Amino acid sequence: MDYGLKNRLSRIIKPNDNRTVMLAIDHGYFMGPTSGLEDVKNSITPLLPYADSLMLTRGILRNQIDAGIDIPIVLRVSGGTSILKDDLSDEDITVSMEEAVRLNVSAVALSIFIGSKNEKQGIINLARLIDEGNKFGIPVLAVTAVGREMARDARYLSLAVRIAAETGASIVKTYYCEDFEKVINTCPVPVVVAGGKKTAERDALELAYNAVRSGAAGVDMGRNIFQSEKPVNMIKAVRAVVHEGLTAEEAYNTICNK
Ligand code: R5P
Repeated sequence: MDYGLKNRLSRIIKPNDNRTVMLAIDHGYFMGPTSGLEDVKNSITPLLPYADSLMLTRGILRNQIDAGIDIPIVLRVSGGTSILKDDLSDEDITVSMEEAVRLNVSAVALSIFIGSKNEKQGIINLARLIDEGNKFGIPVLAVTAVGREMARDARYLSLAVRIAAETGASIVKTYYCEDFEKVINTCPVPVVVAGGKKTAERDALELAYNAVRSGAAGVDMGRNIFQSEKPVNMIKAVRAVVHEGLTAEEAYNTICNK
């Protein structure tokens, strides 16, 4: 693997344990001012010391994140729809690779929508982005987005994840499901799980615990952290589960609920 690509990946997935806690705050690219992210700078700055990387759009990066903060950036480079549309799958590439290089990012992220009417468009965009990324040594994280009508089960998610990996993604993000080992064991690159909609802290920690126990490289979690009543405690607890092997119960009792 190319040195630059490998070096950038090692900034996101920590080589000492091959795990990562990615903080996702890119929701605004189609959801607008998401609850908990109205004032990004004030809500996110206290969380940054506990995140291994930050996933966001260029608008928020440029305007709300201090350029002096040492945190690897995973830049959301797909978009084109909003929550006002029924079908969110009609995405294209929204940021050039030159711009990603200029912003000194460690990876770029794009969604694919397997089974949607825009399935092909997403896969071809992913392939093009990977070709561009390879020119500059920038890894691509493929987000396997799931339409409302699609089941989040191991059969579907392993299909989506494997297609992303076969297309050349360096990391794949997906949802946790029953029989998650099947998704992990058939994917040749690291998999991270999204947190999904806000749930009870214990449940989100349980999801993180089950995901890493099944072989995931970690989490790319957003709402369950920044919408928590105690977001700093929550991200510390997620870290303890992902990097230190605490169970969800231990992390909840000793860190989250302190
Ligand atoms: C969703 O479109 C974004 O890619 C989010 O980064 C992703 O869903 C993870 O955030 P959450 O944990 O809130 O689901």
